Amino acid sequence: MGRGYGFANRDIVSIRSFTREEIDYILEVSGTMEPLVEKGSDMLRGKVLAELFFEPSTRTMLSFQTAMYKLGGSVIGFAEPGVSSVWKGESLADTVRVVESYSDVIVLRHPLEGAARFAAEYARVPVINAGSGAEEHPTQALLDLYTIMKSKGRIDGLNIVLMGDLRYGRTVHSLAYALSLYDVKLRLVSPDLLKMRREVIEDIKDRIEVSEHTDLADVLLDADVLYVTRIQKERFPDLGEYEKVRGSYAVNLDVLKRAKEDLIVLHPLPRVDEVAVEVDSTPFAKYFEQARNGVVVRMALLALVLGAVE
Ligand code: NCD
Repeated sequence: MGRGYGFANRDIVSIRSFTREEIDYILEVSGTMEPLVEKGSDMLRGKVLAELFFEPSTRTMLSFQTAMYKLGGSVIGFAEPGVSSVWKGESLADTVRVVESYSDVIVLRHPLEGAARFAAEYARVPVINAGSGAEEHPTQALLDLYTIMKSKGRIDGLNIVLMGDLRYGRTVHSLAYALSLYDVKLRLVSPDLLKMRREVIEDIKDRIEVSEHTDLADVLLDADVLYVTRIQKERFPDLGEYEKVRGSYAVNLDVLKRAKEDLIVLHPLPRVDEVAVEVDSTPFAKYFEQARNGVVVRMALLALVLGAVE
């Protein structure tokens, strides 16, 4: 491998800075990491990953840690959910300046949009965006694509439904941008209040067919992928507005009776009540496998930006 994409030292701030060829290459390298999950590797021995999590996380934080350990590297960092209210431009810049002198790569999650870009501008080491407010979550989009590819054998030609909180959910923004590089039909299902941001739709609508719906029944019949998201309660400016929409979109066995037999249901997790637990034991459910795929995709990203894989 090694097609000279120049991933070494590259920041991963937005999925929009990647071409389809680059994304396909990341998915290919992720596949080569599968055997190393078992065997381990010392390809990143001596390298240090710094995790700066200004917002809660389970999967993203732990899977980056696992990825680093599987490749022989080490992890430092903090997870301090309450810190968002004390955010000051300078303090993030200073934190990044200090942390870069201890580490080889920084993974940052922050409640403010633009935070990862800002950090990347200050840091000399590569910065990977692990979620920037409601804006983007590029590594999640890559593991979502990897999961679709693994389950379906392709991304092109699929009908893909994104449902739930398309306004405040950052994973769906990155995923919509990424999918627009493929030949897919994208159906967006949400209550009016939670519709996909205009700027995202404007950006992708010239490349792929996109339609908006309020009812899942309109698009479920021929869907190949149903990607469900949690209502991002913590990002609602007004909780009264949240009360109006909570629980409005739920996937259960009854709903899935009308789906194609080989539909896959994805969810970035954590779920609240959008996907009923009864779905977990059906062949539709791919969300736990999706979470597991986060490890190989993050192994690939770390190996690429740290120059261990060309
Ligand atoms: C998501 C996030 O943090 O944006 N979680 C994740 O990284 N898998 C989704 C969410 O919080 O709903």
